[in-house]
Amino acid sequence: MCILVIGSGGREHALVHALSGADSAAGTENELHAAPGNAGIARLATLHDLDVTDGPATVELAQSIGADLVVIGPEQPLVAGVADALREAGIAVFGPSKEAAALEGSKAFAKDVMAAAGVRTAEARQVTDESEVEAALDAFGPTYVVKDDGLAGGKGVVVTSDRAAAKEHAEAVIAAGNPVLFESFLEGPEVSLFCLVDGETVVPLLPAQDHKRAYDNDEGPNTGGMGAYTPLPWLPANGVQRIVDEVVAPVAAEMVRRGTPYSGLLYAGLAWGAQGPAVVEFNARFGDPETQAVLALLQTPLADVLHATATGTLAQLAPLEWKDGYAVTVVLAAENYPANPRKGDAITAQGGLLDDPARVLHAGTAADTADGYVSAGGRVLNILGTGATLSDAVEAAYKAIEQIELDGSFYRRDIARPAIDGEIEI
Ligand code: GLY
Repeated sequence: MCILVIGSGGREHALVHALSGADSAAGTENELHAAPGNAGIARLATLHDLDVTDGPATVELAQSIGADLVVIGPEQPLVAGVADALREAGIAVFGPSKEAAALEGSKAFAKDVMAAAGVRTAEARQVTDESEVEAALDAFGPTYVVKDDGLAGGKGVVVTSDRAAAKEHAEAVIAAGNPVLFESFLEGPEVSLFCLVDGETVVPLLPAQDHKRAYDNDEGPNTGGMGAYTPLPWLPANGVQRIVDEVVAPVAAEMVRRGTPYSGLLYAGLAWGAQGPAVVEFNARFGDPETQAVLALLQTPLADVLHATATGTLAQLAPLEWKDGYAVTVVLAAENYPANPRKGDAITAQGGLLDDPARVLHAGTAADTADGYVSAGGRVLNILGTGATLSDAVEAAYKAIEQIELDGSFYRRDIARPAIDGEIEI
């Protein structure tokens, strides 16, 4: 197949690497393109310049390369309707329509769908005027959960017991012209479950957990995600099935009932509380960095999986096959990420590590003139580790990250640590 992947981060490098078939027993011979891609993706795919929110330009690019499948990585093109433009042009696309992507694009819409589908989630109140902020703070906290009701790449959420900080965030979101959502705090460890959805057919991938705060022990600001591991040793054996039955399948059915069926990847971000799963948020795309770990264990050729979803034949796909063991990814972030990441510094490592996508995926990198790499984003690299045990996988990832040099960079040293130490209780 000729496949075009839209996006430029670590998630897209993971997708392109998996689509290349390099790790799959079957092997594949896909012709790969990416737009705009990054310096790591350039080793596996032909890169193209593209405004990823421009539907007609994406259609033109897909037609010019004869794409059999377009895979949309990030949320912005989905919310902008790029998948609709591709479908209208008769091109198979992995990614939901603009109307279905509103499950991520509007948190208020997601709440409405969940209420109709009977899905457990936090109580919420939407506020658009600064004068309503104090009353909402009285009603919902502490702990205060204050969300930007627009796309904010995971960075629009503040969870804090500090009322002044919650108020400041709410006022900043309103000043920027977005509604703000106040929510009750959901207790329990977080789970990211990615599900392939094609109408009412739902196929879950392995469950993962992301670490969203910038620093160890869940301190510091929220980020897009600083590391992740999969699967979850602490999740009950029926945990994934419960999430499918209680959350994803009812939402998929509700989207069909509304005449806006979901087609693509539905990411359920959950808290596992006393009553089981409750929804923190939905995303309309693969999560970053969880995807980097999840795809490291997938054995079924990814191209078959995405193509079946895109062409409405997911129900006929054979059950997914997974490697045994665990996978971990650790994010190497630039100095001052997430506030104002420093860019343009040389990245070096021994032994071809930076060119081995089974161990290092590129997120915010660019090629420099001397055939090396420089930092070009906040999350710069995703370092992977796999192993028979979660400890083995963590050890492999940290051993690799220690070999990489990027001035001023930092990473969390406790990815998967609470799970390994048995500290996660449900
Ligand atoms: N890992 C969080 C996200 O992808 O939004």
